[in-house]
Order: sequence, then C-alpha cells, then structure tokens
Amino acid sequence: MKKIGVYTSGGDSPGMNAAIRAVVRSGIASGVEVIGIRGGYSGMIEGHFDSLNLRSVANIIQRGGTFLKTGRSSEFLKTQGRSAAAEQLKKESIEGLICIGGDGSFRGARALFLEHQIAVVGIPGTIDNDLFGTDTTIGFDTAVNTALDAIDKIRDTAAAHDRVFIIEVMGRNTGHIAAMAGLAGGAEEVFAPDVGFSIEKSVDRIKLAQSRGKMSSILVAAEGHKAGRVYDLAEQIRRKSGLDPKVCILGHQQRGGAPSASDRVLASRLGAAAVAALLAGQKDIMLGTEGLKIISVPFEIATSKEKPTSKELLNLVSVLAN
Ligand code: F6P
Repeated sequence: MKKIGVYTSGGDSPGMNAAIRAVVRSGIASGVEVIGIRGGYSGMIEGHFDSLNLRSVANIIQRGGTFLKTGRSSEFLKTQGRSAAAEQLKKESIEGLICIGGDGSFRGARALFLEHQIAVVGIPGTIDNDLFGTDTTIGFDTAVNTALDAIDKIRDTAAAHDRVFIIEVMGRNTGHIAAMAGLAGGAEEVFAPDVGFSIEKSVDRIKLAQSRGKMSSILVAAEGHKAGRVYDLAEQIRRKSGLDPKVCILGHQQRGGAPSASDRVLASRLGAAAVAALLAGQKDIMLGTEGLKIISVPFEIATSKEKPTSKELLNLVSVLAN
C-alpha cells in the first residue's frame, strides 16, 4: 500500500488525537502517505481529504476531542452513501483505512469492506468501553477519572449535609464507567442498564446504613438510552423512602479533557499496530487489548454484542459499601 486514510467516527473520546498522531507518524515511518478524512463518514462521502505530514500532528497528543472532527452520518447508513464514499476513496487512490471509533463506526467499516472490498482496520475509541473482544478502549480511563473527580467533590458536600446523591454518568447500553468510577469513589450503589436492580433493596440498604450511622450516600447510575433517566430513579427513591436524593448529571464533560497517560499510551500503541496490521494485509478487524497484549478481533465478532458490565465489580461495590 502507498496511501492509507485515517478517520474518527461516532462520539469523540479523549486520546483520539494521540491515535491519529501514532497512525500518521508510524505510517510515514513505514513509507506510506497518510490522508486525514475530515468529519468521519460524512467527510468520506464528500471527499474531505488532506494529506497529513509529521507536523500536521504536532502538539496534539495531550488534547481531547479529535482534530479530524467526528460525527454520526445517516447518509453512510444507506448503500448509496457507502458507494459514494468508495468512489471518493478510489478517486484519491486510498488503498486502506484506519477507523477510530465505536461499534456503529465499525459496522460501517465492515459494510464498506463487504460491499467495496476496502480494507479497514479499527481502533476502539469510545468512553463507554462497551466493545466486545477488548479489555479497554481509548478514552475510557480518562472518562472514569473525570467521573471520579466529580464523585469525590460531591461526596464532600453529601457528607457535610448528610445527603443522598445520585450521580449520572455516561454509558448507553452498559455501565462500565459507572462500575469503575463507583468502585473507585466508594459508592454505595451502582445502576447499570444491562444489570437488573431493585429500588426497594437500594432503599433498604441506604436505611440500614443510616441506622448504623452512615448518613450520606452516593449512588452512581449509567444514563442508558436517554440522559436524565436518573431523575426517574430519584423520584422512585423519594416515593419509596421519604428521603430527598439530589441529582447530578455529569454529561459530556466525560467526553472531553486531556487524555490520561494510560489513554495516550494505549492510543499510541494501537495507532502504530493498526498501520502495521493494514500493511501486513489484515482487514475487517478491530485491534484491542487482552492484558498488556494487543490482539485482533474480527469486526463481525466485535460488533456482534456489547461487552457486559462486570458483575464482579458491582458485587464488590455492594460489599465494600457496608
Ligand atoms: O458512545 C458514547 C456516548 O457518550 C454514550 O455514552 C452516550 O449515550 C452518547 O455517546 C451520547 O452521544 P451524543 O451526545 O454525541 O449523541
């Protein structure tokens, strides 16, 4: 291959810039030209291509967001949209692609491969950490630390007023951020969209804790499909207990900010490995991690289901909250 393209797609995550930098610099070191595709799949359809050089990615390893921009393209969900994108790639002589994104982005990449035989290697970039087949994703560690910082601050005011707080963190179908930040923040309870829970039991636990002298509680809930769901949870707790839980929604601040050291290292390793994989002829795969090892997972498997929230972490939250 002489020319490859790189793009970011779906929700941004801290460390995407570090991954683009690694792709560009290791691509150039391997003798290929790297084209940045601006604006994800919409930019691909419209041919928003820029040749990137070593200096194009200077001073971005520490920045959140993605300098290539990102988005969710409804046009690319249609076969005509994908054909238009394939046409643009052909015109530009781009022979392979590196896609940095989540499951929706990888479904698009797989369709591009199946319909137009364009080789794509995926780098998992999502704060949700819900991609099946990889231990972690770029941006997850930073998002957990952003949530944890907020939990620590809210705990101060919760303790000062003897209050119950419910903090909503991101996580559409799973509760990976909720479980990690909840455990690290000493939460009393974590609610995840893919794990059943009982409000009655939560209320009993809070009341039992109060009878033992623990007067403040922190509950962490993943937002699920609709941000603000936590208001319903608070209302249910209010009705069943007479307590007055305060709500705090962390929202999109979890998607921004400087990536943690761990996310920068992960992004750098996966970026370089993606270039090597593409040049070695691999396609239709996502790279991921298993422990410290980099592994490759077929897109078909990575997009077949979501990685479930760890029950082990949720149980530990309950045990340690006593
Ligand atoms: O996929 C990451 C995520 O942050 C989800 O947790 C959330 O549901 C969604 O993106 C929100 O995305 P947006 O506001 O960009 O539509």
